[in-house]
Amino acid sequence: MKRSEREIPKSWVPDRTVWLNVGVPMSLLGLGTFRLRGDETVRLSLEAALENGYRLVDTATVYGNEAAIGSALNTLLPRHGLSRADIFLTSKLSPKDHGKEQAEAACLRSLKELGCDYLDLYLVHWPGTQGWPQDDAGNRERRLRSWRALEKLHDGRKLRAIGVSNYTIRHLEELLAECRVRPSVLQVEFHPELAQSALLSFCRREGIHLQAYSSLGAGHLVDRPEVAKVAMCHGRQPSQVLLRWALQQGVSVIPKSASPSRVAENAQLWTWELSQADMEELNAMDCGKHYCWDPSGVA
Ligand SMILES: NC(=O)c1ccc[n+]([C@@H]2O[C@H](COP(=O)([O-])OP(=O)(O)OC[C@H]3O[C@@H](n4cnc5c(N)ncnc54)[C@H](OP(=O)(O)O)[C@@H]3O)[C@@H](O)[C@H]2O)c1
Repeated sequence: MKRSEREIPKSWVPDRTVWLNVGVPMSLLGLGTFRLRGDETVRLSLEAALENGYRLVDTATVYGNEAAIGSALNTLLPRHGLSRADIFLTSKLSPKDHGKEQAEAACLRSLKELGCDYLDLYLVHWPGTQGWPQDDAGNRERRLRSWRALEKLHDGRKLRAIGVSNYTIRHLEELLAECRVRPSVLQVEFHPELAQSALLSFCRREGIHLQAYSSLGAGHLVDRPEVAKVAMCHGRQPSQVLLRWALQQGVSVIPKSASPSRVAENAQLWTWELSQADMEELNAMDCGKHYCWDPSGVA
């Protein structure tokens, strides 16, 4: 890391940036890459993202696309007049790699796959260990050992910020009681049908930034009549309404699309806003529905 932690890259828009609790700036809009597979698909989606102002890429070991992303960035960044420092790169520890030595080795493997010497953010993907029963009390000790590895890699400046994903308030309270370096980010499923208001309030109080995944309900919410109605009133797309709903609560977003035109559409978020009445209509959809996974049963 050569650049000062406190500097926003020149190719970023300051109003589209959040400062993490470790003094690192993070872009509020990123490209999700779950199920984005194949070198050409990855390249086209990333190219559209860079052209449309995305400066964050969210990947994970379990997505199986770190090498494709690393190689696409290597080609695309110079083509767009950008460098590694212009991109906020996130990856995640696979649930099979929990434990201190395993987590450290897994993170170093991710760096190698991505062709980088540091990551901007590395998240514990899931509070449980793959293959273990969810209610096994050993999950708690194991994820804490993983956190020790992330703290060490953060000290060694391989990871500018560290965080967690799919943690509940209970998992976060345990971590906050034991950690030396506090988590900067919690990445969770967050959309009008899963508004997570208690979790959001907790994160605000504790200075942990909440980042939404599956903002579009993994694609299912764009067809909801409540969302379509608000979109029509603003002359906008349903996907844009769902992303603004999160941004207006201070929550960052990482929509995924394999289609360059949708990647572009999902970035048109900055020159308009939802009214309080729109927000309330969308809030009324909250029914605790998970389209991805529910971590509440993990001990
Ligand atoms: N930490 C975790 O456990 C976790 C879990 C899930 C996801 N994530 C991260 O969050 C990212 C986003 O979540 P997600 O991929 O689950 O779902 P999402 O972003 O809510 O939705 C993606 C789906 O919506 C479709 N889509 C995208 N833009 C659209 C548009 N403008 N209009 C209509 N449909 C559209 C996509 O299809 P096309 O590709 O065909 O356009 C895709 O099927 C992931 O990619 C990943 O990086 C993290």
